[in-house]
Amino acid sequence: MDSIVIEGGQRLTGSIRINGAKNAGLLIQCAALLTDQPTTLRHVPKLADTRTMAKLLRHLGCEVEGERTMQIDPRGVAAGPLEATYDLVKTMRASVTVMGPLLARYGRARVSLPGGCAIGARPIDQHLKGLEALGATIDLRHGYVELRADRLRGGSFVFDTVTVGGTQNVMMAATLAKGASRLENVAREPEVEELACVLTKMGARIRGAGTSVIEIEGVDTLHGVDHAIIPDRIEAGTLAVAAALTQGDVLLEDAPVDHMHSVIGKLQEAGVQCTYEPDGLRVVGPDVLRPIDVSTRPYPGFPTDMQAQIMVLAACANGQSLITETIFENRFMHVPELARMGADIHVNGHCAVIRGPARLSGTTVMATDLRASASLVLAGLVAQGRTEIRRVYHLDRGYETIEERLRPLGAKIERRHDAPA
Ligand code: UD1
Repeated sequence: MDSIVIEGGQRLTGSIRINGAKNAGLLIQCAALLTDQPTTLRHVPKLADTRTMAKLLRHLGCEVEGERTMQIDPRGVAAGPLEATYDLVKTMRASVTVMGPLLARYGRARVSLPGGCAIGARPIDQHLKGLEALGATIDLRHGYVELRADRLRGGSFVFDTVTVGGTQNVMMAATLAKGASRLENVAREPEVEELACVLTKMGARIRGAGTSVIEIEGVDTLHGVDHAIIPDRIEAGTLAVAAALTQGDVLLEDAPVDHMHSVIGKLQEAGVQCTYEPDGLRVVGPDVLRPIDVSTRPYPGFPTDMQAQIMVLAACANGQSLITETIFENRFMHVPELARMGADIHVNGHCAVIRGPARLSGTTVMATDLRASASLVLAGLVAQGRTEIRRVYHLDRGYETIEERLRPLGAKIERRHDAPA
C-alpha cells in the first residue's frame, strides 16, 4: 500500500498549473455515450476516478485510448451490455450518470444502486424521478435500477433538492428526448455549465445552464466533439490553502477564478492575499491567520469539496472558527485525524467549532475519503516533524500525483510503496 510522507514546515513558493477538473471530466466522459461518433477530450486529469470511468466505458463497449488526451469511440455500445455493474458503481458513485445517456440513446440501461458511501447515504431518487418525468419506466430489482423508454419525451421536473449529478443525468437524457423539457431547481455548479457547453457543441439545444432553470429542446441525434476540460476549482482551492498555510507565495496558473469567488472570499477574510493576475491567481499567506465562519452550500456558495481543507486553515487561525456542513451528513471524518495532529475541533451535529491557533505536529494518520485526505496533506505541510498519510488511494482518486505537484513548490513530500494497510 502507498503512503505519503511529509516533513512539515516548508514554505511553498513558485507557480503551478492547475489540472483539468475531475468532476467536469467524468461527466463529459459519460456524455460521449450520447452519440455514436468519436469524442476527443483534452486536459484530462490522470486520476483513479477518470480511469474508473474509462473502465466503465470500455465495459459498455467503447474503445477508450489515451490519458491526458482521451479518445472515446462509442460505436460498440449498441452491442454491449448497457449496464454499470455493482463493482464499478461502488468504486465510484459518478458511474450512475451513465444512466441518462444510455437510456436516451439506446432505450434502456441497467445500473447498480450505489448504496451508502463514507460521507453519507447519498440517494439517487432525484435522478430517477427526473428520468421518470421524461417517460422512463423504472424497476428496482436485485440491487439494480432497470430503466426503459422507447424514446424519451420532453417533460417538466422540479428537483426536490439541488443535486449536481441529478441535474447532469436528467439534462443529458433530455437532449435526445422528443420535444421540450424544463428542469427547475437545478444545480448551478460550473460542472453543469461545462457539461451543457459540451452538449451544445455536440448539437444539443440547451438554455439556462448556470441558472436554476434549464430548458432543453430535444434533438434526434448528437455528434462527436473535441473539447478541452476546464481547470479544477477544487484542486486550485486546495493548493491555495497550501500556500496560505505555509506563509507561501504561489501562482496558481489557469486557476478558474470566476468559479472560486466563495473560496477566495473566505481566504481573504482569513487574511490571505489573493491577487488576480493575467496568468491566474497569486496566493500569499499571512504571518497570522484570522478565524473564519464557513457554511457549505450549493454553488455559488462555499463548496462542500473544500470544507475539509478550509478546516485546516481554521485550525491554524488565531481564534475561534465555525464550520457548518449542510450538503452531506457525515463529512467530518477528517476531524479525529486532525485532532490527533493537535487541532482543537469540537463537532456538534453539522457544526464544527475550531479553536486556534493549533501547533500541529506530525504523526501517522489515515485517509478516509478524497477531500479528507487532502486536508491531512495540508496539515502535514504545516505540522512540525513527519506526517505519514496512509490509504492514499482516496487521494489518488482526485489529485494527480500530489507529491510531484507539491515538491517543485518546496514541499518535502514523497510517496512510499511499502506502508501497511
Ligand atoms: C457532486 C460531486 C461531488 C460534490 C457534490 C456536491 C461529481 C462527480 N461529484 O456529487 O464531488 O461533493 O456534487 O457538490 O461531480 N441527493 C439526494 N437525492 C439525489 C441526489 C442527491 O437527496 O437523487 C442529495 C445528496 O445526498 C446530497 C445532496 O443531494 O446530500 C447533494 O448531492 P449531489 O449534488 O447529487 O452530489 P453528487 O452529484 O453525487
